[in-house]
Amino acid sequence: MTSSPAYLVSGATGEQGGSVARELLKAGYRVHALVRDASKAQAKELESLGAVLFVGNFSNADVISKATVGVKGVFINPFPDFTNPEGEAETAQRFVDAARAAGTVEHIILSTALHTGSHQHYLSIDPNYPLKQYYHSKAAAEAVVRNSNGVKYWTILRPAWLYQQYTFPYSALHFPQLHTDRILSSPLDHVTPFIHFNAKDMGYWARAAFENPAKFASKEIELGAESLNLEQAVRGLEKVSGVKITTQWLDPAEVAKDTSDPMSGPRATFAVWQKEQGFDLTPEEYDTAKSYGVPLTSFEQWLEQDKAQIFKTLKVSL
Ligand SMILES: NC(=O)c1ccc[n+]([C@@H]2O[C@H](COP(=O)([O-])OP(=O)(O)OC[C@H]3O[C@@H](n4cnc5c(N)ncnc54)[C@H](OP(=O)(O)O)[C@@H]3O)[C@@H](O)[C@H]2O)c1
Repeated sequence: MTSSPAYLVSGATGEQGGSVARELLKAGYRVHALVRDASKAQAKELESLGAVLFVGNFSNADVISKATVGVKGVFINPFPDFTNPEGEAETAQRFVDAARAAGTVEHIILSTALHTGSHQHYLSIDPNYPLKQYYHSKAAAEAVVRNSNGVKYWTILRPAWLYQQYTFPYSALHFPQLHTDRILSSPLDHVTPFIHFNAKDMGYWARAAFENPAKFASKEIELGAESLNLEQAVRGLEKVSGVKITTQWLDPAEVAKDTSDPMSGPRATFAVWQKEQGFDLTPEEYDTAKSYGVPLTSFEQWLEQDKAQIFKTLKVSL
């Protein structure tokens, strides 16, 4: 009896990797899940669903090699290392090297971030663009995957702002008082729309790509589902949770002066940038994403799907 194909999923305890692992398992494939901590609830859940856990971090080439043996595809979701601008590229290279050595890998999928590559345009306007290092790191990882000679197919998926940023622990980065005081304060205003994506949709995209490699071959796809401003986001959170969220629209110049929180400066400069340059899909990019026929969860749908996490963030009993 031949067994079903196996896929290696990195960041498997996270939102994106977890959704990819669960979707592949649900479809009857075997999953090698790379995790840092096998005792984490998300790792245990995947194990109970049939995934084989490989324990190690992205700098551990040995574990990555072992986890790649016999797999047909690899999902790479590198994580930014703010102490090393080349960190994500080095991570991607370890997966590519392991894939080449395994000899069984036909498809590599890399997840980066919306408009990686076109950020060069922003740099031409402002060489001090606040997300310069972030995008440099993502672009370098993409270059590694594009040059993964020896592996037949590669695909790059670029998710937009994740809905999950409104739930703890992710909310702590941009909205530090949301989980403590039900306050959403932001140097961005309440009217500027920006494009959102559900991290949990990554599972559908990765499965579709692994199952139709020729269709997704050498494709670089911007992933966004719905454009929302922060006022709309807050109203949605209030509607589903039944509690009031206080909003504070802050002056970016004042936020930038706050030295008590290391994220204040980047948050302020990014907000100014978002207002001036926009953060959305072009109509062509919307059409391209839709043309694949892969689900793109709307905000309303996400509010229902992640209701438990929203309740937890806002300290509402279920
Ligand atoms: N937030 C956004 O709006 C947004 C938008 C577009 C793209 N992105 C990108 O999406 C990525 C995060 O994906 P996600 O949303 O799935 O985040 P997540 O839920 O925080 O998951 C991150 C995963 O990566 C693992 N991980 C982190 N550093 C690692 C390391 N050094 N070695 C091994 N595993 C490591 C984590 O393991 P543990 O469980 O052990 O921590 C976890 O499984 C980032 O690269 C980010 O830049 C984010």
